[in-house]
Amino acid sequence: MVPPLSSLLATACILSFFAPIPRVTSTDILTLGSSLPVEAYQTSILQSQDGTFSCGFYSVYTNAFTFSIWYSKAGKIVWSANRDRPVHVRRSAITLQKNGNMILTDYDETVVWQADGNFTNVQNAQLLNTGNLIIKDSSGSTVWQSFDSPTDTFLPTQHITASVKLVPTNELHGPGNYIFRFSDFSALSLIYNVPEVSDIYWPDPDQTLYQDGRNQYNSTRLGFLDNSGKLASSDFADGQPLVAADAGGNIKRRLTLDPDGNLRLYSLNESDWSWSVSMQAMSQPCNIHGLCGPNGICHYSPKPTCSCPPGYVMRNKDFWGSDQQHLLSLSFQQCRNICISDCTCKGFQYQEGLLIKFGSGEKIKFLEQGTLQ
Ligand SMILES: *[C@@H]1O[C@H](CO)[C@@H](O)[C@H](O)[C@H]1NC(C)=O
Ligand SMILES: *[C@@H]1O[C@H](CO)[C@@H](O)[C@H](O)[C@H]1NC(C)=O
Ligand SMILES: *[C@@H]1O[C@H](CO)[C@@H](O)[C@H](O)[C@H]1NC(C)=O
Repeated sequence: MVPPLSSLLATACILSFFAPIPRVTSTDILTLGSSLPVEAYQTSILQSQDGTFSCGFYSVYTNAFTFSIWYSKAGKIVWSANRDRPVHVRRSAITLQKNGNMILTDYDETVVWQADGNFTNVQNAQLLNTGNLIIKDSSGSTVWQSFDSPTDTFLPTQHITASVKLVPTNELHGPGNYIFRFSDFSALSLIYNVPEVSDIYWPDPDQTLYQDGRNQYNSTRLGFLDNSGKLASSDFADGQPLVAADAGGNIKRRLTLDPDGNLRLYSLNESDWSWSVSMQAMSQPCNIHGLCGPNGICHYSPKPTCSCPPGYVMRNKDFWGSDQQHLLSLSFQQCRNICISDCTCKGFQYQEGLLIKFGSGEKIKFLEQGTLQ
């Protein structure tokens, strides 16, 4: 049935009244002296020339925003200026000041973040097709770039240098307890890092760097993910890169340190904007330190699952805890005596002459195997 003309007109008017087409300022450039205000976060954004990346205010939870760069259509944040300190939904702004510095201000004009560098003769800021936000001077040189201060993600062509690191973004949008960076031995490493302990779980600490396929004597400290899905690093033996399962092609990727402490290379499917994993550092996630908390047991069923020893219950979901001490070539009885005479030893695990002492806190009773009861 064809509706009468008056009703069609009414429908059209209501539609255009309630759903105005947002006028997205599709530019890749922020000019000197201009701002992006948080109130216009849906329309006032920078977009790379090919449209792949967007940069502006991103709503991380109600009324709280980070100044971020994300994959435009997949909505995945790849960099944030102020992950640890979101700004308010009113009056916050990012400004490329006339003096060349870029500053992020909160509702009360507190400066929450600023770019760090030598800002003489700055011309503008630009979001590149690589996802790099740069500040350029009048000679065209880059005087600051977001690629030098990554958050939880490296993008293809971004340099992994001695001075950068990744820290995962946890469920509350804050930084997690893991780090990806070059170690003191110049090896690209995953590190479990809490105030009480900092230890490497990738490359495998139970082997030598040589056995892990690393070169211990190259102090260059330079890594690089290329556009074809190959991750190279100065410490990889024979200069051999790690290669993604779907290597090659024209695929958009990201290398992200996830909240569970695993480093994964993701590929974007541009038909449904979903991400799939094409490479990961830890094929056995139970070897990620601290994953199950103090005295927790990680097992595969078949997904990695945390549980407690018999007689214990989960206390919390805290990602905390680690072995206290490893001692080699001991008998079970020696291990037992060491633990009993140490007030901070909560329990121990014994296997083939290796003592693993863990936890501090209240003393517990031992089973024959050395597990907790
Ligand atoms: C800052 O940049 C200007 C122009 O590029 C240069 O002349 C000056 O030496 C730099 N200052 C510092 C401290 O690097
Ligand atoms: C160290 O690594 C760099 C970068 O991969 C490479 O160019 C250089 O040849 C390496 N040096 C040695 C001594 O292997
Ligand atoms: C991408 O997603 C589409 C739609 O879900 C699917 O049919 C296709 O197989 C996916 N491509 C790849 C390479 O996974």
